[in-house]
Amino acid sequence: MTKRILITDPIDEEGIKILKKYFDVDVKTELKEDEIVKIIKNYDALIVRSATKVTKKIIDASNLKVIGRAGTGLDNIDVEAAKAKGIAVLNSPIGNVVSVAELVFGMMISLSRNLIKANISMKSGKWEKKGLMGNELYGKTLGIIGLGRIGKEVAKIALAFGMHVIAYDPFIKEVENVKLVSLDELLEKSDFITIHVPLTDETKNLIGKNEIEKMKKGVKIINTSRGGIINEDTLYDALVSGKIAGAALDVFENEPPFGTKSEKLLNLDNVIVTPHIGASTHEAQRKCGIEIAENILKFFGNK
Ligand code: MLT
Repeated sequence: MTKRILITDPIDEEGIKILKKYFDVDVKTELKEDEIVKIIKNYDALIVRSATKVTKKIIDASNLKVIGRAGTGLDNIDVEAAKAKGIAVLNSPIGNVVSVAELVFGMMISLSRNLIKANISMKSGKWEKKGLMGNELYGKTLGIIGLGRIGKEVAKIALAFGMHVIAYDPFIKEVENVKLVSLDELLEKSDFITIHVPLTDETKNLIGKNEIEKMKKGVKIINTSRGGIINEDTLYDALVSGKIAGAALDVFENEPPFGTKSEKLLNLDNVIVTPHIGASTHEAQRKCGIEIAENILKFFGNK
């Protein structure tokens, strides 16, 4: 019998086209948890991006064989509950890599050259060069926490900028032109720190008060991975005191942060914020859509 696939977040048409060649595919977006619970037993596979929270309630009500995540992070899926029911969980970890790494550099240059400040100032009718003195990236030390696919792409671009690249990743033994160091050494030596680890019990609050104390005064931090890896209260204090000179954040402990305790970070002049757009490029969405479709095909033995 033809397998049935439910897609509950917008994924790229190209991916849907591939799936439709082999399966019955329903695309139903913006469903509430209870609405998914009601219909999920009719499907063999569920595909989501980040908006759908695949809860234990959904999983327990299902006859799913596989859950596919178009994207990298699995923190919106109750992976333990899926495992307990023998449901496979797949993601598409390659499609986003370039887009996220490029955003890191957009953010790093914005921080070091005051681009956002300059834009706001000039559009309010000021020609104010004085407060806009910046720094070059060339010759600076970039510390990368997490040297997976995205971390490695960031390293490649940083080397082209003439930066010294050091990285902390307990799972990696060797990478060309990148010095692997302990977390402490990375914190002590970096002029810029960028984070590329998933949010897990081990990485939650990985960067807290003790870690920030070890950093250079005036360090700049970029987080495009997940909120909660840097403790937001501690980050806020360090940005106010000037210990951390600037932060660029694409992710927050609470998304959207409005009306939550994450919101205070938005009020600081030395913070640049974007609404979790690391993977929001046409190219990344196309690649992720195709990648997850092909992974589902492989899972069901159609490829
Ligand atoms: C990912 O995990 O793939 C990115 O954070 C993008 C997203 O969640 O949509």
